[in-house]
Amino acid sequence: MKLKKEQWSSKFGFIMAAAGSAIGLGNLWKFPYVTGTSGGAVFLLVYVVFLLLLGIPILLSELSIGRFAGMNAIDSCRKINAKWGFAGSFGIVGAFGVMSSYCVVGGWVIRCIINAVTDTNMNAEFFGDFSSRTFEPILWTFVFIAITCIIVSGGVSKGIERVSSVLLPILFVFLISIMIYSLSLPNAIEGVKFFLVPDFSEINGFSDFMRIALNAMGQVFFSLSLGMGTLITYGSYLPKNSNLASSTVTIVVLDTLIALIAGFLILPAVFSFGLEPTGGSGLIFQTLPVVFSRMKGGSFVAAIFFTLVLFAALTSSISLLEVIVAWICDKTKLKRRSAAIIVSLLIFAVGCLASLSNGAVPELSFGGMSFFELLSFISDKIIMPLGGFFICILVGYIWGIPNAAKEISNDGKLKFGMKWLFSTAVRYIAPALIAIIFVTSVFSFGE
Ligand code: TRP
Repeated sequence: MKLKKEQWSSKFGFIMAAAGSAIGLGNLWKFPYVTGTSGGAVFLLVYVVFLLLLGIPILLSELSIGRFAGMNAIDSCRKINAKWGFAGSFGIVGAFGVMSSYCVVGGWVIRCIINAVTDTNMNAEFFGDFSSRTFEPILWTFVFIAITCIIVSGGVSKGIERVSSVLLPILFVFLISIMIYSLSLPNAIEGVKFFLVPDFSEINGFSDFMRIALNAMGQVFFSLSLGMGTLITYGSYLPKNSNLASSTVTIVVLDTLIALIAGFLILPAVFSFGLEPTGGSGLIFQTLPVVFSRMKGGSFVAAIFFTLVLFAALTSSISLLEVIVAWICDKTKLKRRSAAIIVSLLIFAVGCLASLSNGAVPELSFGGMSFFELLSFISDKIIMPLGGFFICILVGYIWGIPNAAKEISNDGKLKFGMKWLFSTAVRYIAPALIAIIFVTSVFSFGE
């Protein structure tokens, strides 16, 4: 007997699940700090352009491949063309790379919750001191990956998605309130200017611009969980009468909204406290404790805030670990729990090296990047864009725009007014952009 294929129970449920996977540390932690190190408003401008030219077309492509084929990422691509299974396989390597640094940052978030509860060390220096220690960050990295592993091996991820449908709106309200507080700090306007008013004179020539473009492209892929087949899998659970184009736009808008709010929350505070926006990966952990320490009842607010961040991070890390575990369970006879534990331990091992490279063992660096930075370079700037590139070629040339358009318009039942734009983006603009940025950056790497 054939089992009925699993499907999302409602459009809201699907959007929340997809947004839950997309919204995570990428929006709350990475976006503000990459904006800071990449020239502020110029970065934001390039980011928005890439969202339109790369993010939307690739997201829509992945969802339509998934709904058309109704299988996991690799088999879905294979169904379109027997030789193209590899296009869906980037997720396995990508997920491993992303998770190895994600769990380190997840550990930092847990440490911040503990700090808030015990009401200590609410200052900007604490984070630098903590993250460069040897054992403590590794301990919290372990706690984060252990929580993820327990949820994935118990197979209760679905329950978590339901929880995230409640927590996401709460996170939203919380972020907006803290953003308003942050905007009211003295000198906050400097941060707003940095974020919104492009200053092209700050860019040092072509190679600096390409660095910003590469960062923006990596951020679009990372934040929307693109190029890794995750959205192919999510698309495969969608009922045939769903509207792919409008779901795509909703997911992109929600994800971007959260990133923008995070920017408006962090950058004004950075300028108000006289910190450097170029501070790098510790930016939110240096800034937010100071913001909270100035508020009445700040440690209470901080505890709730970081708990919400932890949940946002967990809904993403669960879907990342799930990608690998599901694949191993398909390919081997391993039980779900054993697969989850083995993969988690491997991720933890790499995560330890990533954590140590943040200061305790400075030798762990390659070509001027710490191992931690190298991991995210490889996953967001190589693996995900390559995955996205092949998705574009698969949809644009192998499957063909008419077939894709048939799927997107539900056999012509829905209007697909932007078809020509989608076609141009998928066939020409997106692959060309990815190729240009990719080649330029590979050649400048190590300069
Ligand atoms: N988008 C997630 C975030 O912003 C991280 C992420 C990247 C991800 N790739 C993914 C999540 C693939 C799930 C699946 O935090």
